[in-house]
Amino acid sequence: MPRDNSEQPSTDATSVIEIRDLHKSYGALEVLKGVDLVAPRGHVVSLIGSSGSGKSTLLRCANLLEESQQGDIRFEGEPIKWKGHGLNRHPADRAQVTRIRTNLSMVFQQFNLWSHMTILQNVMEAPVTVLGRDKAEVEEKAREYLAKVGIGDKCDVWPAQLSGGQQQRAAIARALCMEPKALLFDEPTSALDPELEQEVVKVIKDLAAEGRTMIIVTHDMRMAHDVSDHVVFLHQGLIEEEGAPAELFGNPKSERLKQFLSHSQPV
Ligand SMILES: Nc1ncnc2c1ncn2[C@@H]1O[C@H](COP(=O)(O)OP(=O)(O)OP(=O)(O)O)[C@@H](O)[C@H]1O
Ligand SMILES: [Mg+2]
Repeated sequence: MPRDNSEQPSTDATSVIEIRDLHKSYGALEVLKGVDLVAPRGHVVSLIGSSGSGKSTLLRCANLLEESQQGDIRFEGEPIKWKGHGLNRHPADRAQVTRIRTNLSMVFQQFNLWSHMTILQNVMEAPVTVLGRDKAEVEEKAREYLAKVGIGDKCDVWPAQLSGGQQQRAAIARALCMEPKALLFDEPTSALDPELEQEVVKVIKDLAAEGRTMIIVTHDMRMAHDVSDHVVFLHQGLIEEEGAPAELFGNPKSERLKQFLSHSQPV
């Protein structure tokens, strides 16, 4: 996997997601105050920072689930079209938003599986109903992805019959079955016991080794260290420090990052 040793990934046409100078407020509360985030193709970028620093908000803005008031977002070089300004700024082209969003799969802390569908049905649902793909072909893919995350034998059970780690792996298979250009994870291991957490970390490591483009919000510093090409430390809505994992974790420069890492598990 290519390693990025620069301070910040450069702009290039092969970036899947490129965010520049993003500002986002909820009413009077400014949550993102001018943030850049680039996910080059085949790279893993981790977002770390204390609770409330804006990590989830940034991820949701990247996926166009949240609106932002200023700054540019590009998907594979294509700029999002906006209309209006500031709090009145909105995406101008709903079809563009839908197309881009279907190319970015999210995995959340709370797996969000449909409880009334079997695991296989959960994985097949969006490719069939949203993308209109052929059911038999999707089923074949879904079974492959479930096997890939180690639960190929759980196709016909209900989500409630799985452990948390197995449910999260099913959620990852569901994200993969959309065959997205990038995977976005928001604390994928936070709801899990340490033992189950490791099952999910292994799957994420395998995906990173395959060269999948991923942005991962995590409190697991070891995983961020092990899987990332680039790590971004967000503090109160601004990037306080970023760099290659060995540098960022091994030789943090800002006092805030040093303090943050001193409260985390050592990597
Ligand atoms: N829908 C919302 N409406 C109003 N304020 C919000 C909303 N979502 C988030 N916020 C606020 O934005 C700030 C950033 O929240 P965000 O969820 O992005 O933080 P985070 O870094 O993901 O934190 P955590 O590690 O706890 O998940 C917080 O002050 C939060 O209260
Ligand atoms: Mg969050």
